[in-house]
Amino acid sequence: METAEDRRPPAPARVLAVTSGKGGVGKTNVAVNLAARLATMGRRILLMDADLGMANADVLCNLNVRTTLAHVLTGRRTLSDVMIDGPGGFTLIPGVSGLAAIADLSEFERARMLDLLTQLEDEYDLVIIDTGAGISPNVLNFVEAADEVLVVTTPEPTAITDAYGLIKTICRRREGAEFSILINQVRDSREARRVFDRIDLVCRRFLGVRATNAGCVPLDPHVSAAVRRREPFVIGAPDCPASGYVRQLAHKLDRHAAEPRDGGFFKKFASWLAG
Ligand SMILES: Nc1ncnc2c1ncn2[C@@H]1O[C@H](COP(=O)(O)OP(=O)(O)OP(=O)(O)O)[C@@H](O)[C@H]1O
Ligand SMILES: [Mg+2]
Repeated sequence: METAEDRRPPAPARVLAVTSGKGGVGKTNVAVNLAARLATMGRRILLMDADLGMANADVLCNLNVRTTLAHVLTGRRTLSDVMIDGPGGFTLIPGVSGLAAIADLSEFERARMLDLLTQLEDEYDLVIIDTGAGISPNVLNFVEAADEVLVVTTPEPTAITDAYGLIKTICRRREGAEFSILINQVRDSREARRVFDRIDLVCRRFLGVRATNAGCVPLDPHVSAAVRRREPFVIGAPDCPASGYVRQLAHKLDRHAAEPRDGGFFKKFASWLAG
């Protein structure tokens, strides 16, 4: 018998953009390992590789990608042809090089894209977007469309400065923007705290915003070893220090996943597609 519960439309997915000011700080590793961990916990996770420059989430997962969203837009493939199962059971939309030409999409392609993306929203608990680095329009559009923004940095002064630059840009473009900061490649938790406090201080003083501390991931040789093996470290080395910290972050995110949010990602994404 059908109940009210069955008739209620599923809640749209929450969307998390993983981004950074400086390149090479660990976004893809964080995004892929979070996706793998949350999927192992039974969550329905979609990872969208939105790094239009160097898409490589598929490489980290040892997946052989032949088709991307570009093929869907041109009508040569369906969405299910393009999506592939990642380690742990998440779904990957590989290297969306088709989006690079988003400004040139025809009306037909735009409508098709919208349609496809809106369908996806109901099928997942969390959509994780691995963006490129920096403040290009492509990165910022994804960041603006997300419910949550995770800014990844390392303790290096250049990475910290660029993280602040990115946060400043986000705050200028979107009033009341909320973001969390994850410090990757730290030597110990004291260093992580010191880096977070430094960024939080300038954010409060000069931008009038507070950052949320998403925690840290230690500098861990298991990470680069897993990259070489093309396997997420949470799966290949579940007991290594980095895996422990990613698990903590996954639990934090999972707790927030049930909170209400305004509108869905794809509705906002739709607005820039239409613009
Ligand atoms: N916690 C860590 N411990 C040790 N090495 C790490 C750690 N995080 C990242 N690395 C190393 O840094 C490299 C770059 O990481 P990754 O590709 O995830 O960065 P990115 O921010 O996605 O880069 P890009 O800006 O090019 O997309 C990895 O291949 C890995 O060798
Ligand atoms: Mg990357």
